[in-house]
Amino acid sequence: MRIFLFNGFLLLVFVVAPVPDVFVNSSKSAEIMDQNPLPNTCRYITANSVLEARCFQLKSQTIAMLDLNPDIQVLNITGSLLFTLNNDSLHLYKELEFIYLRHNIISIIRKAAFANQLYLQVLDLTNSFCRILPKSLFQLPYLHTLYLGENWLTDRMFNVNVTSPLRILQLSDNKLRVIPNIGLQPTLLNLNVSNNFITSIRTEDLAPFCSLNDLDLTGNDIRFNARSCDCQTFNAWVKLRQIKMKPKLYKCPYSSALNKTCANVSFSNRTYELFNECLAMMQQMIEEDIQQKMEKDIQQKMEPEKPRSVWLIFASCVLVCLFIVFVTLFCVHNWNRRQCRKQQEQLTMIYNNTELNTELLQQQSDNN
Ligand SMILES: *[C@@H]1O[C@H](CO)[C@@H](O)[C@H](O)[C@H]1NC(C)=O
Ligand SMILES: *[C@@H]1O[C@H](CO)[C@@H](O)[C@H](O)[C@H]1NC(C)=O
Ligand SMILES: *[C@@H]1O[C@H](CO)[C@@H](O)[C@H](O)[C@H]1NC(C)=O
Repeated sequence: MRIFLFNGFLLLVFVVAPVPDVFVNSSKSAEIMDQNPLPNTCRYITANSVLEARCFQLKSQTIAMLDLNPDIQVLNITGSLLFTLNNDSLHLYKELEFIYLRHNIISIIRKAAFANQLYLQVLDLTNSFCRILPKSLFQLPYLHTLYLGENWLTDRMFNVNVTSPLRILQLSDNKLRVIPNIGLQPTLLNLNVSNNFITSIRTEDLAPFCSLNDLDLTGNDIRFNARSCDCQTFNAWVKLRQIKMKPKLYKCPYSSALNKTCANVSFSNRTYELFNECLAMMQQMIEEDIQQKMEKDIQQKMEPEKPRSVWLIFASCVLVCLFIVFVTLFCVHNWNRRQCRKQQEQLTMIYNNTELNTELLQQQSDNN
């Protein structure tokens, strides 16, 4: 049994050893392809072992026709005439982490266009005439950066359940009238809604983004109710949360009476509620993250045990083999010795016998 294990181990060594070569070959082939650009002006670039397909001024209107390497992690088709993203456009490319589609004319994106992009982290659709985004885009598990500036997106597009761990949401130069109502986003750090049509903003709009660092609201005509403390309240929240806002703070309508009543602003219960829910969600995410890391650590600690146990089996195999060899040699040696002694005894017996016989014969002859 152990010897089988040992053989298995040897086999494994011979099977595993050539694998790195295979990887080297694949990156080599990418370099070779790099020297021969594909007819449709795409080329491959490998940097830090990340494979990128970069295409320039494509005339073809669908990505599906490009027939690219299915292992690409980056797809870069900026400044082309891409018109639609069909359900099958990106279907083949399941390893994509970055998709750059700036400066295209992608007015049609089908519902399942990003359905296969389980590893997508960054999507850039800046300035691509987008009106509609598929809802499933906002549920991709690793998507953290969305560049959607300079499109025709309306509030309706953000009436979705966002479960992606969004960190950067760039929505400048669109057609928004309110801050996107995308629910609790504990990971969101950067929200850019400059140059939209936003006319009002409340603390409740920002409270669901409890990690928000940067907020760009320039280029919106935001007005506050001049007879309430809304403006002071909003500014106070931005200050309290230390959000870097553009413009820095709003100039609030002034009257001595209002200034007195607004001196001690208080935030609405809803604001606190949303903010605390966001914090709780963040806490939960951190705990899950720590647990995952710990599980990974435990797995990693377990893994080195495997080679060690393999070595133990290997060493014990060798010892057992040596022992068997030793024992057989010893036995053979003993057997040989015994055999020798027996032969010697037989020889001496024969010798004695012959001596006796000769003596007897001699005696007989003497007697005769
Ligand atoms: C794309 O996929 C969605 C969802 O699976 C489906 O409802 C739709 O009909 C598909 N569109 C096309 C053009 O195949
Ligand atoms: C928001 O986007 C606009 C347009 O791209 C850009 O000019 C501006 O610097 C961005 N704001 C921040 C805070 O990054
Ligand atoms: C807000 O919460 C406080 C304390 O929990 C409560 O007394 C108050 O009635 C609440 N206000 C509103 C408007 O619900």
